[in-house]
Amino acid sequence: MTQLSFPIDDASATDRLAWLASEIARHNALYHADDAPEISDAEFDALVRENAAIEAAFPHLIRADSPSRLVGAAPAGPLAKVAHARAMLSLDNAFADEDVAEFIDRIRRFLKLADDAAVAVTAEPKIDGLSCSLRYEQGRLVQAATRGDGAVGEDVTPNVRTIRDIPQMLPPGAPDVFEVRGEVYMAKADFDALNARLLAAVDDPAKARQFANPRNAAAGSLRQKDANVTAARPLCFLAHGWGEASALPADTQYGVMRAIGDWGFPVSDALVRVDSVEAMIAHYRGIEAKRADLPFDIDGVVYKVDRLDWQERLGFVARAPRWAIAHKFPAEQAQTTLRAIDTQVGRTGKITPVARLEPVTVGGVVVTNATLHNADEIERLGVRPGDRVVVQRAGDVIPQIVENLTRDEDRPAWHFPTHCQECGSALAREEGEVDWRCTGGLICPAQRVERLRHFVSRHALDIEGLGLTHIEAFFKDGLIRSPADIYRLTEQREALIGRERWAETSVDNLIRAVDAKRRPPLDRFLFALGIRHVGEVTARDLARRYSTWAALSAMIDACIAKRAELVPAVGESDEKFRARTAKELAAIIETPGVGPEVAQALVDFFAEPHNRQVLDDLLAQVTVDAVIHETRASEVTGKTVVFTGSLETMSRDEAKAQAEALGAKVAGSVSAKTDLVVAGPGAGSKLKKAADLGIRVIDEANWQAIVAQAG
Ligand code: IVH
Repeated sequence: MTQLSFPIDDASATDRLAWLASEIARHNALYHADDAPEISDAEFDALVRENAAIEAAFPHLIRADSPSRLVGAAPAGPLAKVAHARAMLSLDNAFADEDVAEFIDRIRRFLKLADDAAVAVTAEPKIDGLSCSLRYEQGRLVQAATRGDGAVGEDVTPNVRTIRDIPQMLPPGAPDVFEVRGEVYMAKADFDALNARLLAAVDDPAKARQFANPRNAAAGSLRQKDANVTAARPLCFLAHGWGEASALPADTQYGVMRAIGDWGFPVSDALVRVDSVEAMIAHYRGIEAKRADLPFDIDGVVYKVDRLDWQERLGFVARAPRWAIAHKFPAEQAQTTLRAIDTQVGRTGKITPVARLEPVTVGGVVVTNATLHNADEIERLGVRPGDRVVVQRAGDVIPQIVENLTRDEDRPAWHFPTHCQECGSALAREEGEVDWRCTGGLICPAQRVERLRHFVSRHALDIEGLGLTHIEAFFKDGLIRSPADIYRLTEQREALIGRERWAETSVDNLIRAVDAKRRPPLDRFLFALGIRHVGEVTARDLARRYSTWAALSAMIDACIAKRAELVPAVGESDEKFRARTAKELAAIIETPGVGPEVAQALVDFFAEPHNRQVLDDLLAQVTVDAVIHETRASEVTGKTVVFTGSLETMSRDEAKAQAEALGAKVAGSVSAKTDLVVAGPGAGSKLKKAADLGIRVIDEANWQAIVAQAG
């Protein structure tokens, strides 16, 4: 192993700690998940000891993912992938009581219920574990999978069979196919005992591979290649829902959960059915009061609409159902000292100030860094290095500073930098924006590295084994300068094997991981490009609307041509002209959810010759797979529908969601392109126009018949 002298300054210590974190994680995975260690136990221990020594000398540099806190965490082993029969969704959050009232109001509006109509909901604790789907066929447990990205999870069947809470069989009479969903978790006492055991098992405490919190311990214990390891860990299960089911034992959430309980699954004994906002909040307060005494960690209360026919009508938005919400407990807080303020350069050049803190435990997790968001936030808090501050951590969110306790003390102010510390370019702030950005664009190495990192990240191309440290090192040595280079790594096997810290097995694994991602689906590909304002949801909307790369780029070319044609009107201000242009572009893009801001960013990106070059280079390496929008076939699929007049059994939003689920487009006004008008009482000019144009008009009952007939 390379002998390195002990780091003497923050910069070299930071680099070394980053390298150690990535190396220790890699060797952990090789040891636990692959059963293929590349180094001896003694060499591994030396890495852990070096990490501990540097952390002792530079405690302010301890990383969030420091091996001293995470060693022993889940090996990112190659567990088989499982596509979920029904997506595993996440939940929207409510923080204040008003958010809960608004949730119920929204449901009433969507379902067109009276303002004071009772909406029964179930309420139960939100467990901090990891969700798991258990599939039973003909009464037998046939498959268990983690949530993964919601569409595809990991196969943990043998591991789940070792959890005593989980029945191997359903009782006679249960549906032929039924997926029970719930949370695998570790009780607080079991977590403490496990960590104590891990500590006792080693002669040197620095070598102990303990878990940071019960959630990590549960995940690390379940996601094991060797189910014997899982069997030795005290895991529990609590059911909170279901996935695919050939039949349901009841027509309410509460009824189905009771049946699942009767089949032998643990269901929360704090699961209740209530029918007012007041009762929901009372139950929430009751659970909050008992929180500390519960045997497991919870982070809120989940409410779900009780009637399943209503759940069906309410459907989903993006990744979360409209019929459920998580009412989170307030964030946990602690006081500490702000040591320094650094800045980080993001993928689009955005400068984020980061607070370096004296390590402090907040809700069971050691926090050393917190985001300060932007210059306005620093001004609002009036923070300077040396101040005592209140740090807050809520769930998985990055810790934040919420209060400066020593604002009045006399201390020199902290000034926002004027230039990028990475490339020296000036920082600029656009009118009306809060963020400062580095103007270096592609000459800024930090931005380029961040873009590459984003490109391979989990929700983008998801290339395994190519972490930040590797990207930085490859970038520095000129091996990877643009996304296409990542694919060209596969031609560099020999050169890579010669590199320090890379061995034949790890290089082959990397090449395999890269080759596995040569056919990205359009939505991931588009998201991976890192275009400003094009997040995952927008990328998916665009991919659904255009399906193929060819169709999408043809549309963008049309936008670029259109933009070239537009000229300012006499007396039109720059700002007005830009806004009008963006609107016209959005009209061409014709995608729900894609407004002028996204349209402008998209066209800016593709109009830039350098981006085109990078893209062409990349397209020589990958084939973008089409995304087919799954819709139920019906007579309105592919047609344009207009709703007018007042609708009586459903809201406009619901009607629109129904039409979109059938693959129809909903337009706001009647034109020659309209195929069908659904008119309720009071329909006026639109109805008349439809008649003039000879467009088919139906009433709400006929519309419902079309929806009911759809396959
Ligand atoms: S319901 C369609 N109920 O929280 C709704 N989720 O933030 C799916 N969770 O992925 C989830 N306790 O892993 C539900 N009582 C509960 C829960 C719960 C914990 C987790 C679950 C989900 C995540 C969403």
